Amino acid sequence: MSINIAIDGPAGAGKSTIARKAAAELGFIYVDTGALYRSIAYFCVSREVSPEDTSTVVSRLDEITPELRFIDGVQHVFVNGEDVSDRIRTPEISLAASRVSAIPEVRQFLFGLQKKIAAENNVIMDGRDIGTVVLPDAQLKIFLTASPEARAKRRYAELCEKGNAPDYEQVLADIIKRDKDDSERAIAPLKQAEDAVLCDTTELTLEESIDKIISMIKEIL
Ligand code: DC
Repeated sequence: MSINIAIDGPAGAGKSTIARKAAAELGFIYVDTGALYRSIAYFCVSREVSPEDTSTVVSRLDEITPELRFIDGVQHVFVNGEDVSDRIRTPEISLAASRVSAIPEVRQFLFGLQKKIAAENNVIMDGRDIGTVVLPDAQLKIFLTASPEARAKRRYAELCEKGNAPDYEQVLADIIKRDKDDSERAIAPLKQAEDAVLCDTTELTLEESIDKIISMIKEIL
């Protein structure tokens, strides 16, 4: 039986960086499920389908083949054979992903793919509903969070590093809006699973957070 670790939490809590490093150290596959929602958003934006137009988004799902390929242990996201790993990381796609992720048919569409990867591999899977919906039987569930300001500062630094010139207030406003949308939506809202361990990284450095998560995982292995 494969080992499944679920890490959920709001945008910018450090889930992806921490989960990626922990997975590399432990020899697990890291699965970033947000990238799947982003790939649907990318398809919509690039075909000029509004992510708000639920019926059109749903009617076009059968044209989308999202795929996660693991190349040298690194996740690449493909949409209909095109590697979109970098193109899905823009603020526009972030907001569109939040919108399409509130559509039940989109969640259902991606559910099977996530279950299949987890059944076949030892995974650290991150998202919003992994511990509550996708992998309710995960051997360890972690709810990773940090204050909105701490998360906005990290996202701001990340965007600067990639050569963008972001506006901090806008980054913070986007994070607060996404938190609200993700936790108030009717289907699979962002919430801590009852049996998840809460880990708040507001006061921790990245290295401290990674060490903490790795030692939590080692304890259950
Ligand atoms: O983690 P991220 O920022 O890449 O996620 C993009 C969007 O997808 C985010 O608004 C929440 C949504 N999402 C989700 O609803 N369920 C998941 N398991 C992962 C992401």
